[in-house]
This record gives sequence, C-alpha cells and structure tokens, in this order.
Amino acid sequence: MRLLGLLGALSCSSAGVYAASLRVVNVTTLGVDPNTTNHLNGESFQQDALVTFNGYQYAAYYISDTSNASVRHPSLARRALTGNDTAWESFSFLDYNQTEDDGHDIISLGVSHGDGTLHLGWDQHDNDLNYRISQTGVATNPSEVGWSASLFGVTLDQLPGTESLDKSVYFINVTYPRFLSVPTAKVDNGGADLLLELRVGRSGLGDDWLYKYTPNQGWSLIGKYLEGVNNNAYINGIDFDANGNLMTTWTYRDYVNDTGQDVAVQAGPNGPENNHDLNFAFSTNLGETWQNNWNQSIANMTAQQPIVPVSAGIVIFGIPKYGGILNQEAQTVDPEGRIHVLNRENTTGTEQWYHYWRSTTHHWTRTALPLPSELQSINNITGTPTVIGKRGKIVAPPQSPHGSILLILPDNAANSTGLSILRSTAVGHFRDWEVVWEAESGNAWEPLFDRYRLDTRTGGDGVLSLFVVNGTAIQVLDFDLTDV
Ligand SMILES: *[C@@H]1O[C@H](CO)[C@@H](O)[C@H](O)[C@H]1NC(C)=O
Ligand SMILES: *[C@@H]1O[C@H](CO)[C@@H](O)[C@H](O)[C@H]1NC(C)=O
Ligand SMILES: *[C@@H]1O[C@H](CO)[C@@H](O)[C@H](O)[C@H]1NC(C)=O
Ligand SMILES: *[C@@H]1O[C@H](CO)[C@@H](O)[C@H](O)[C@H]1NC(C)=O
Ligand SMILES: *[C@@H]1O[C@H](CO)[C@@H](O)[C@H](O)[C@H]1NC(C)=O
Ligand SMILES: *[C@@H]1O[C@H](CO)[C@@H](O)[C@H](O)[C@H]1NC(C)=O
Ligand SMILES: *[C@@H]1O[C@H](CO)[C@@H](O)[C@H](O)[C@H]1NC(C)=O
Ligand SMILES: *[C@@H]1O[C@H](CO)[C@@H](O)[C@H](O)[C@H]1NC(C)=O
Ligand SMILES: *[C@@H]1O[C@H](CO)[C@@H](O)[C@H](O)[C@H]1NC(C)=O
Ligand SMILES: *[C@@H]1O[C@H](CO)[C@@H](O)[C@H](O)[C@H]1NC(C)=O
Ligand SMILES: *[C@@H]1O[C@H](CO)[C@@H](O)[C@H](O)[C@H]1NC(C)=O
Ligand SMILES: *[C@@H]1O[C@H](CO)[C@@H](O)[C@H](O)[C@H]1NC(C)=O
Repeated sequence: MRLLGLLGALSCSSAGVYAASLRVVNVTTLGVDPNTTNHLNGESFQQDALVTFNGYQYAAYYISDTSNASVRHPSLARRALTGNDTAWESFSFLDYNQTEDDGHDIISLGVSHGDGTLHLGWDQHDNDLNYRISQTGVATNPSEVGWSASLFGVTLDQLPGTESLDKSVYFINVTYPRFLSVPTAKVDNGGADLLLELRVGRSGLGDDWLYKYTPNQGWSLIGKYLEGVNNNAYINGIDFDANGNLMTTWTYRDYVNDTGQDVAVQAGPNGPENNHDLNFAFSTNLGETWQNNWNQSIANMTAQQPIVPVSAGIVIFGIPKYGGILNQEAQTVDPEGRIHVLNRENTTGTEQWYHYWRSTTHHWTRTALPLPSELQSINNITGTPTVIGKRGKIVAPPQSPHGSILLILPDNAANSTGLSILRSTAVGHFRDWEVVWEAESGNAWEPLFDRYRLDTRTGGDGVLSLFVVNGTAIQVLDFDLTDV
C-alpha cells in the first residue's frame, strides 16, 4: 500500500498531493429516455434514482409507452452486483400513465432494509400523493422473487399507516419526494429504518415534512420540520452522518405571485433569482428535534415547532437575492461527519461553483472553485456555471485514505453534454482541486449517483455508479474508486 501511495505521489499532477485516477469499469443502458422538452429522468432532487442494498442495485426511471409517445410509465430495474448473471432486469408499471411534460415529475426510490420493501414516489408537482410499496422480502430475498410489477400494490394517495391524518391536508400539493435509509446503528430494535421527505405547498409557498417507515408496520408522521413564511426551503439533500445525525442544508425561495404563468420549467417570475442564503440544521433523533450549528435547539416536532426563516443561527452564509445561489444542487456527509455542499453564487460578478463545508469542530469554509485559468479541463468546466444550468453532485468516497471529495460537474455551456469529475482532499484542506476524469460529451442532463453502493461498511462494493442521460440512452456508468 505504501509503495502504491508513493508511486501515486510521484505521478501526481501539480494540483494534488496524491494523484487520483478514476476508471470507468462498465457502462450499461437501462432504456430510451422519453422525448420530452423537460427532463423526467436525471433531476438533481431525485433521492434516489439508484439504490444498492443486499448485493443488488435498483434503478427507477420513465420509459415511453410503446404505442403512444405522449405517455410515459414509471419503470424499475435491478441487477445483481456479483455472480454469473449481472444483467439488468426491468419492468414498467403499465397501470400508470405519466403525461405532463414537467421536469418536476421525477421518480424517487427507497428501500426498507428491515422488511425488504421497495418504496416509490413519482409524478409530483403540487398534486396528490403518488406512492406505491412492494411486498415484503423483495429486497431481502432478491433471488427468490421474479422481477415484475405484480410485486407492488396499487398507487396510493396516502402513506399506509397514516390513516388518522386528513389526506386532504397532509398529502395534497406534494412535490419532491425523497427517501433516505436510516443507518443500521440508528435503527432501534424493530424501529423505523426509512425516511420520506417531501414538500407540501408550491414554489415560494411551501413546507417540508418528514415521515418514517417502520418495517412490517407502516409510515408515521415525524412532522413539518421546515416551514416557509412567504417562501419555501429548497434543500440540497438530506443525509445522515456516520453517527446517525440527520443533516440538511437549504436555500430559501421568496414568493413572487406568478398566477397565470407556466411553471413547468424552473424559471421566473418565481425562479431561482429569488433564492437567498445557505442554511444548515441537524437532528440527533431522526428529525424529532433540530439544532443549529452551535447545538442550540431550534425546532421540536412534538411541540409542532418547525424551523422557520427567522430561527436562530440557521444562516451559515448570507447570500442575497440575485446572488446566483441555485436550489437543490448537492450535499453529502463524509466519514468524519463533515457536511459538504456544492452550490453556486454570482456575488462577485461571475457565476461560479462553490464548495461549502463544515469542519469537525463546526467551522464553515466557503471556497469558489478555481477559474479555468487555474484548472485544466477539456470542458473549461469551472468557467461554465449559469444561474439555472444543470446541477452537479458531491460525493465523499467512504474508503478514500486521503479524505477525498469528488464533484460530478455537468458542463453548463449552451448545448454541451460534457461531464467532468473533480477531486480535492482533506489533507489539502479541500483547496487542491484537480480534474480526475472527464468526457467532452455523453451527459445530456443532471447526473445522479448511488449513495449506498459506495460504502463497503454498509453492504456496498465501493463502486461509484452514476445515472446519466447519454444522448437518448438512460445509462449507468460505474467507476472504480480504488485510487481516489
Ligand atoms: C421528439 O419530438 C419532437 C416533437 O415533439 C419531434 O419533432 C422529434 O422528431 C422527436 N424525436 C424523436 C427522436 O422521436
Ligand atoms: C395509458 O396509455 C395507453 C397508451 O396511450 C392507453 O392505451 C391506456 O388506455 C392508458 N391508460 C389509462 C389508465 O389511461
Ligand atoms: C396518447 O396519449 C395522450 C395522453 O394521454 C392522449 O391525449 C392521446 O389521445 C393518446 N393518443 C392515442 C392515439 O391514443
Ligand atoms: C456460476 O459460475 C461458477 C464459476 O464460474 C460455476 O461454478 C457455477 O456453476 C455457475 N452457476 C450457475 C448457476 O450458472
Ligand atoms: C457490466 O454490467 C453488465 C450488466 O450489469 C454485466 O453483464 C457485465 O458483466 C458487467 N461488466 C463488467 C466488466 O463488470
Ligand atoms: C393544491 O391541491 C388542491 C387539492 O388537490 C388543489 O385544488 C389546488 O389547486 C392545489 N394548489 C396548487 C397550487 O397546486
Ligand atoms: C396572486 O394574484 C392573483 C391575481 O392577481 C390572486 O388572485 C391571488 O390570490 C394571488 N396569490 C397569492 C398567494 O397572493
Ligand atoms: C419537545 O416538545 C415536547 C412537547 O412540548 C417536550 O415534552 C420535549 O421536552 C421537547 N423536547 C426538547 C428537546 O425540547
Ligand atoms: C453575474 O453577475 C454579473 C453582474 O451582476 C452579470 O453581469 C453576469 O451576467 C452574471 N453572470 C451570470 C452567469 O448570470
Ligand atoms: C472558459 O470560461 C471562461 C469564463 O471563466 C470564458 O471566458 C471562456 O470563454 C471559456 N472558454 C471556452 C473555450 O469556452
Ligand atoms: C444550441 O442549440 C440551439 C438549438 O439547436 C441553437 O439554436 C443554438 O444556437 C445553440 N447554441 C450554441 C451556443 O451552440
Ligand atoms: C455514452 O454512451 C456511449 C455509447 O454507449 C459510451 O461509449 C460513452 O462512454 C457514454 N458516455 C457517457 C459520458 O456516459
């Protein structure tokens, strides 16, 4: 290992202390991307399109109806990651027709490790809940079940287990369903092992709610944890650290009355120019209560006290309106518990990607990515961000000996399908950015990654799988991270 490290160091580029290299080990195709104006596959707020559990990887995406191109069906694929047959198997839910050409209407997928159920949320833009759940055992005994739509129940407009809640209050005007598995160490005996986060309300006027799923029992309400007041929170994501602390970062979008305007695309008059600030909060108890950066209590679900825009100490970086911060770009938590955010600002006259991170002693750092003149890239990648350009992802490979962070950056230049992967290290204080992989073409929209496959301590195999739309193909690109 030592020798390899030394060789790595000798062959390193001027930017990094330790040379990194990323190698594509497989490219597979899930299907043909529907021919819509707005993208239904590959939106940054899908949590998640790719999920690994128990030696299998699952993928969720839309496929067009074979007889009518104006109709799309939610579709699910799975593959074994080891063994003789690792080909994708897939099916479409022919009982559900997706017909709105609206980029909000994506699919998110979650898995309960406890009872092996798969959970889907999809086709949501300020409408009634669309949710379905599989039989138990599907993900825990994958080789025992035939892969077909009949594994799932019908589409539900209320989460099973929450019948005491008035669905005309709790499950209307839903957008952005996100699932997150609870780390094993945080699952009480027989307790909840999956979270669902969603927005109720609309852009500029909405609240974020959390629910938890208990294996073999069903869903229950945690509460409204982020309340909008003439605005709504747009989270960069929701993640656990290794100790099971739940962390989120967000920007607020102030409301502008856009009655009568087409809001199928995320653009004005209620668009990202009205976003402001980077905020942070965390919870030690699955979202029941929330604390700010200084461990002060700011919200309590039992007491129906949500985080509100004036909650103490939530603003980490004050970024003005028209300051170029985008909604729902990316966040991740590294193995040391540091939360990292990828977003962008135009507070200097140039729109640039920024990396924001919280140290183990809870200090925050904000760094603009180096300009193209300081970072060699065939895509000129760091010179391309626009106010509403394709959003990237940030990844913390759990097994990296250097504490590496990767940025998966889609080229924002007009009509470009370039994709670049940058890396920096904890040793280099996350300032030693270098390009470790790039392609001049092949990524038409926002790349996603499989957060669960990455971690060998929790059942993954350490491979980085990206979900991309490559031309008309929905693809999965697998990268070997051994040298990262
Ligand atoms: C996509 O749809 C447009 C019209 O909406 C049509 O002109 C175009 O030929 C279609 N492309 C493909 C590949 O089917
Ligand atoms: C879904 O779309 C297909 C293709 O147009 C059509 O045959 C089917 O009747 C539709 N189903 C429903 C429930 O609308
Ligand atoms: C195709 O589906 C669309 C949307 O549901 C519908 O309006 C249209 O009538 C369908 N076309 C045919 C030929 O069935
Ligand atoms: C899988 O491959 C192994 C070794 O290549 C072989 O021994 C085994 O019989 C194969 N199993 C099946 C089910 O084909
Ligand atoms: C790539 O993935 C396909 C389908 O999952 C599989 O058949 C093939 O063996 C994989 N190749 C490598 C090199 O892993
Ligand atoms: C919210 O949902 C209700 C009930 O479905 C609907 O009448 C209303 O138009 C929705 N509001 C928005 C802003 O979509
Ligand atoms: C937006 O404006 C319309 C008409 O101009 C009005 O009817 C509506 O109540 C306004 N909505 C809000 C949330 O202020
Ligand atoms: C949350 O509120 C409940 C009900 O008011 C209270 O019993 C509990 O102590 C509060 N928790 C914290 C951490 O403040
Ligand atoms: C960034 O801000 C400057 C000054 O306000 C403006 O000229 C420029 O167009 C902005 N850049 C982008 C990409 O919007
Ligand atoms: C690279 O980006 C810079 C902005 O930082 C821009 O001025 C320049 O034109 C770009 N070069 C190319 C070749 O796109
Ligand atoms: C991007 O593509 C559109 C549509 O094909 C075209 O009108 C536009 O000129 C292209 N822009 C650039 C910078 O190539
Ligand atoms: C795009 O697809 C082609 C053909 O499958 C493949 O060779 C290429 O690696 C893919 N590129 C990306 C960035 O996915």
